[in-house]
Amino acid sequence: MDKILIEGQKKLSGSIEISGAKNAVLPIMTATLMANGISKISRVPNLRDTRTMIKLMEIVGAKCQFKNGSLEIDGSSVNNPEAPYELVKTMRASFYVLGPLLARFGYVKVSLPGGCAWGPRPVDFHLKGLEKLGAKITLESGYILAEAKKLKGAVINFEFPSVGATGNIVMAASLADGQTIIENAAREPEIVQLCQYLNMMGANISGIGTSHLIIEGVRNLKPANIDVIPDRIEAGTFLVAGALLGEITLKKVIPSHLDSLLLKLKESGCNISLGEDSITISPPETIKAVDMKTSVYPGFATDLQAQWVALMSLAKGSSIITDTVYHDRFSHVPELNRFGANIKIDKNTAFVRGVKELVGAPVMSTDIRASASLIVAGLAAKGETSVSRIYHIDRGYELIEEKFRSLGANIVRKNTNI
Ligand code: EPU
Repeated sequence: MDKILIEGQKKLSGSIEISGAKNAVLPIMTATLMANGISKISRVPNLRDTRTMIKLMEIVGAKCQFKNGSLEIDGSSVNNPEAPYELVKTMRASFYVLGPLLARFGYVKVSLPGGCAWGPRPVDFHLKGLEKLGAKITLESGYILAEAKKLKGAVINFEFPSVGATGNIVMAASLADGQTIIENAAREPEIVQLCQYLNMMGANISGIGTSHLIIEGVRNLKPANIDVIPDRIEAGTFLVAGALLGEITLKKVIPSHLDSLLLKLKESGCNISLGEDSITISPPETIKAVDMKTSVYPGFATDLQAQWVALMSLAKGSSIITDTVYHDRFSHVPELNRFGANIKIDKNTAFVRGVKELVGAPVMSTDIRASASLIVAGLAAKGETSVSRIYHIDRGYELIEEKFRSLGANIVRKNTNI
């Protein structure tokens, strides 16, 4: 089994380039299924999740070519609107094929994702939204079957601004008859880019970047080319590492996508300077404890909560960290405590009492962002750390050891027998 081995407390310095955003590229890939012809997506990160999505594209009949960060998808041969359990269970984002394939074929069969490492993660908003657009939804042997000869525009008001449900409904509504209005839509940069991409394909979406999206259905969509936005969560992970370990510069980022994290980093004492597409962080003598609550964009991202908990575990003083988006997303906490952190959980809140030093330990990752927090903590800890089950990290971080090594970290991947 591969493990990541770290010799901690090496100072970081230098600069790295941030990769394209996982959570932007995945829905864009499924949008291409609605066009007859070849779409080209650039700055595609080479991740386990993008490769899983390519597999799914091929299962539904698309032809894909992925080389040097550039992905071509030919949607003209798509002929099989079915997403099998074997793939959906490994990556929930597979559910993004639901809207596009239903809109194109009038029928789709997608495995219900099931549970996830940190709780139930239901898909009811996706299904209720499609029903509003006129789809008949049934559950058969663990699969969602959705049917609609022609989707019809409707007003949809989400209980919560779900990223995935907004993406699915925007895609389906783009090919529906008439107007769809989504109230309480997600405003995450990844959803903004999906809407912009759909407009490049010929869709008619307005209100992009607000919680009120208006979609005028069109008859056809055509292939289009796009450059994926930088991954704000990868960037945020490196910023947290910089806050602990030395001055580093991130290149090819969009600083405004990280406003809420940057604000908290400044509060904690870090020095931040911004370029047009770069961020430099330098750490203070001691990190101040800063409370944090996750929320939807432009609030503090739940995908950076685990990394913030790792940072706060080395801060001076106590902090309270609440996740309002996912209430059970704390599987990193018992592992961080193995390094000597002092963190207690009560419901959806972590109470962190900063400690002077973390000491390296064998730890296990449980999901993408939990693994990122363990790597950051291991880099800051004294002595040796090994992180197992690193297939989680490979789902969402491109070349993570190489990038940290180029900044001066001592981190390698090793195949060990246990
Ligand atoms: N929710 C429902 N019903 C639904 C959909 C969502 O109750 O039908 C709830 C969820 O249980 C959760 C909240 O709404 O409490 C928000 O979930 P959302 O639908 O926004 O999340 P998602 O679309 O499943 C995406 C990202 C996640 C990220 C969340 C929140 C992708 C592929 N995934 O998930 O990313 O945490 O938005 O920002 O875009 C990650 O990259 O590590 C990751 C988990």
